[in-house]
Order: sequence, then C-alpha cells, then structure tokens
Amino acid sequence: MFTLSPKPFTRALAFGVVAGVMALGSHAVTAADAVQTSVKIETKNQGAVINKAIYGQFMEHLGRGIYEGVWVGEDSKIPNTKGYRKDVLAALKELQVPLLRWPGGCFADEYHWRDGIGPRDKRPATVNTTWGGVTDDNAFGTHEFMTFAEMLGAEVYINGNLGTGTPQEMAAWLEYLTSDSQSTLANMRRANGRDKPWKVDYFAIGNEAWGCGGTMTPEYYTNLYKHYATFLKTPEDNRPILIASGGHTDQTEWTTTLMENVPETWSMRMDAISHHYYTLPTGDWAKHGAALGFNESEWFDTMFNTLRIEDFIKTNTAIMDKHDPEKKVGFYVDEWGTWYDVAEGDNPGFLYQQNSLRDAVLAGLNLNIFHAYAERVRMSNIAQMVNVLQAMILTDKEKMLLTPTYHVFKMYIPFQDATSLPISIKGENSYVLGDKEIPMVSASAAISTSGKYYLALVNAHPSESRKLAIEADKTFSRVKGQVLTADAMDAHNTFKQPNNLQPKAYKQKAKDGKLILDLPAKSVVVVELLD
Ligand code: AHR
Repeated sequence: MFTLSPKPFTRALAFGVVAGVMALGSHAVTAADAVQTSVKIETKNQGAVINKAIYGQFMEHLGRGIYEGVWVGEDSKIPNTKGYRKDVLAALKELQVPLLRWPGGCFADEYHWRDGIGPRDKRPATVNTTWGGVTDDNAFGTHEFMTFAEMLGAEVYINGNLGTGTPQEMAAWLEYLTSDSQSTLANMRRANGRDKPWKVDYFAIGNEAWGCGGTMTPEYYTNLYKHYATFLKTPEDNRPILIASGGHTDQTEWTTTLMENVPETWSMRMDAISHHYYTLPTGDWAKHGAALGFNESEWFDTMFNTLRIEDFIKTNTAIMDKHDPEKKVGFYVDEWGTWYDVAEGDNPGFLYQQNSLRDAVLAGLNLNIFHAYAERVRMSNIAQMVNVLQAMILTDKEKMLLTPTYHVFKMYIPFQDATSLPISIKGENSYVLGDKEIPMVSASAAISTSGKYYLALVNAHPSESRKLAIEADKTFSRVKGQVLTADAMDAHNTFKQPNNLQPKAYKQKAKDGKLILDLPAKSVVVVELLD
C-alpha cells in the first residue's frame, strides 16, 4: 500500500510543483480546483472479507479501564445496570463492538481466574503488580466479563495465564467456561449463576512472552505453547481459535520460530499468531511525546511511525506464506494504538492519556492498512477501550466523553465483515517534512454485508487539503457520509466540552460526469458511494 521513504525529490522540486499549481491561480482554474490525485476503485474484482474482529477492543485490569470505566458495582451512585455503568454501555452498543479481549495484556500472566468467581464479598483482594501496585478486589471476573460481552453482543477473546499459571489451571478455566457436562467445574459455574456453557471465540496462550509474559526466547515459548495447547480441551462445537503470543514492532523471529515448529496434529494446533505495535511520536520509550500541544514535526513523526506497521505486517506474513500458503493461520495485531507520556500528576501505572484529532487520523490510517491485509490480519484490538492509552471513551467519576478515535470507529462500522475492493491512488500524493516522506492520502473501499459501497479516506497532512477524482468500473454519481476534522492538530473533547470534536455530515455530487471529493487537511471521511 504505502512506501515510507526518505524524500525522493529535492525540496526545490517540491516547491516547484506547488509554485506551478499556484501560477494557475490568475486564470479561471484555481489551485484548489486543480485535481492532482485520483482514487481508482475496482468493484468487479473483490478481495478478502474484512473480519469484524479487526474492530476489536481490549480491556485490561489496568488503571481505570475496567474499574470505574466499565464496572462501578451495583451500589454505585454512578447510574448502572447490574454494576456496569449505563453511559459507557450505551456508547459501546452504538459502536457495535464486535470483540472484547480480557483480562490483559501483562495482567493476564498474573491473573488466576478462580480469584474472580463466586460471591463478590468472598473474593480475595490481590495486588496488580504490573499496573500501579493497586489492590484489585476481583469484583470484575469471569461472569462479569462474559455477561458484559453478551450485553454488547460481542465475541470474546480470553487471554490465558502462561507466565504464572499451570496447564492445569488454564485447562480448568476453559472447562469451567465451556463444559456442558456434570463435572465439578461445570457445576461450579452453574452454582455461580450460569447454567449454559459460554461460547469462547478466541483464547490466547500467554501474552508478550518476550517481555512481561516471562522474558522467554521464541524457542522456549514455542515449546511451552505446544505443551499448554495439548491440554486445552473443549467440546468439539465450542473450540476457540487458539492464539500464540508473537513478537512486536519489527520482530520476525517469533513468527519464524512458531511457524517452523508448531505442527497441526490431532491433539494440538495454532490458529493465529499475535503481534503488538504501539505508536510513540518520538519512537523512544524513555520519552514518548505529549498527547496534546505538539508541533507539526511531532505530528509528522507520529504518522511516519504508525505507518511502519505495514512493513511489519508484510515481513511477518511473507514468512507465514512460506509455511502456510493457504493462509489458515491468522496474523492478529491484538494490541495497537498510541502511547504518550502520562500527564503530570497522573498515576504513571494507569496509562491515562487524552485523545485528539491526531489519534483519529492515525486510527483511520491503521484501519485502512488492516483492511488491505485482511486475508491474514483477521483480528486487531486497539489498546484500550476505556481510560487507557488510545481509548474510545474517557470517564471522570460520573462524567464521560467520546474521543475522536471513538468517532472514527463509529464511522467505519460499515466495514465490519465487508468485502474489500482493490483501490489505488494515482498522482500527487506525498507529504514531505524534513528528509522524510509519507503518503498524504490513504484510502480503503469495500462492499458491505448489505451490498452497499463504502469509501474511507484519510488525509494525514495537517494543513493541505486535497481534491480527489474518484474513478471506478461502475458509475457513482454522489456520496454521502461523514467527515471528522478541526482547525487544530490537537483538537479534542473535554469533560466541559464533550462535543467539541464530532463528525459532520458530508455530501458531494458528480459534475459533468466527474465525481470529485474535497478532502480537508487532517481529516477522516467515510462515505457511501451511490449510483
Ligand atoms: O496495553 C498496555 C500493555 O502494553 C499491555 O498490558 C501489554 O501487553 C503491552 O505491553
């Protein structure tokens, strides 16, 4: 899709192009009217299905992500339904969340599921040693998570504890969740209020085994994966998709070692490999960069860094293609998003950050990339759903706001389970800053499950708008949808002004048989293409 490159042409030439266009300004054609870029969509040659799980959300026992963000308890003054806050629940229903990942992250490898079942006042209090050293009263456990997913109509992704748990503990959790037998564990589930077994859609064996999950080598983890996977037994019609913990950023050795050494046998299999990539404006874990109040160079670097994910997907999936040309094994980007410096005064272990128009544009870029590689990238989870990192929702006690990233996820709903369409961008499409260049416009098109055509466009340039000629092998004469943009690069919503940044209606019609769309600077546009 994209190429990230050192600037391919000189500054002088770049100015030359701009100057040439500006010279037309004195004639009838203005600089703004000159169409320099076209987007070509092929509707007849359909691509892969964009699995709705690409729109997955991650909820970890971390900061105020679950406690306060989702769960307040039945006795809370914050309006709630059976302990789940009403405002957040309603906002997530609107978002049509397809998938929830829980309980971590790093937390998963220290989570013992038996701590979170049974009467809440009898559950043990444990210390969350990874995130802030706070006490977790385990009020939110297996039943609370599974009920929450059912309330949202979302599939579930449970991350098992490999780091500090045994194969016996992991197997017992799956039995508790899925068994319809009269075993002690299945009856314990019934006694705790759930008669029918739950469906577990996805199950991961450990998380970030290279780091917080046990500081393992790929070889050591691969052996453990096979060991644990062998004992995960469920009823035949309730077998979760099993996920192995892979690498992060530009690593490929995890994918190589897993693909070379995990065979599919009658007793054991690997359905997907997970991969994590966080975008830091600076690319430096010692000083990530600020969530707000940044300059253009930080904006550019954030976009440049996030677009690197395409290379990570390409290199890893090329390895997978060698071993698995039928693409049976998925490549799941099950943690992604921005990670900024914690604001002064906030608990550094809570990873709370504001979310601006920059996050929205970045979300659009990532989603367009995931669509383009949908054959293998069949799941992704943004980190994280509420109050943590690149969140959809922020809360402050009884107050709640929807972030710019929430709005992008909502605009992209028609892409869930849609079939991707080949798309190409021709003509002038570069954003150059210093000695680096990225594409200015990113695009994705698909035909939805209801047979409608959709186009998503992202303009990563903070100050230049673009006119785009839309070309297709089918006539489209108008579009209707929404645009998200603002004047400031760090425009965002606050608890005092929660509706400061919201999508607005967007409509355009063809003139003289040409469909030309105005794409504002720093914007995300999603439209339905109409005859
Ligand atoms: O999302 C926050 C943390 O980032 C997760 O717990 C971990 O998997 C990753 O390092």
